[in-house]
Amino acid sequence: MLRFRLAWLLILAFALTGCRGQVSKSAPIHPNWNMDQTVRIDAQEPSAFFADGRGNRVYPEGTVPSANLRGETRPCTLPESNPAFCQGKDEAGEWLNGVPSEVQVDAALMDRGHERYDIYCSPCHDRTARGDGMVARRGLVPPTLHNDAQRTKPLGQLYNTITNGGPIMPAYASQIPVEDRWAITAYVRALQISQHADLALVPADAAKKQGWK
Ligand code: HEC
Repeated sequence: MLRFRLAWLLILAFALTGCRGQVSKSAPIHPNWNMDQTVRIDAQEPSAFFADGRGNRVYPEGTVPSANLRGETRPCTLPESNPAFCQGKDEAGEWLNGVPSEVQVDAALMDRGHERYDIYCSPCHDRTARGDGMVARRGLVPPTLHNDAQRTKPLGQLYNTITNGGPIMPAYASQIPVEDRWAITAYVRALQISQHADLALVPADAAKKQGWK
């Protein structure tokens, strides 16, 4: 009987200490210390650790933002400021049907797109974009990019797929700079044309050399 009373007393004691019924400004008791208690200096907070008493440190002289070290710029920090280049959309919000004015389509762009495509896209889509990459052979099968639906998609939409990914396909905005995403976009369209070309697209002398005309 005594044991029962003792148990009730204990439960009552816990219950009462659990809800004190008053507001307290002191930190809650944490039996296990977690990241709430990290010793840190918040922004603009003073710090006795440094001689000048400031928590915020100034950059050492000559500091360069790391993106610039690799010769990169960050043109799309505010994508809305340049929807064509950054989002692949025109002013009306429609997908761009060509490349934005910043992108010059030439052999160098195609070479860059080719190289980047082989690195980033071919593991799934394979080098011809038929969707038979090594990852696809192990289960994650992307669609072929050689059908009418894919061939006629506006370039802006293709760019957007690289930037934001799909339901399964990962987004590449954080890994591939904007300029390279456009280079890949142009290269994918070239890949598509390479498998579905109109003879009229082949320069006359080249066609003649092949005996096509
Ligand atoms: C990890 C595998 C994987 C990689 C890498 C990958 N994709 Fe995809 N991609 C997919 C899958 C899966 C789909 C089908 C759509 C979905 O489920 O997300 C797809 C769909 C697409 C589509 C069609 C989108 C549509 O709306 O029909 C395009 C275009 C495309 N990918 C281009 C690319 C390009 C360009 C790259 C390289 C930058 C790339 N993908 C890298 C897996 C991948």
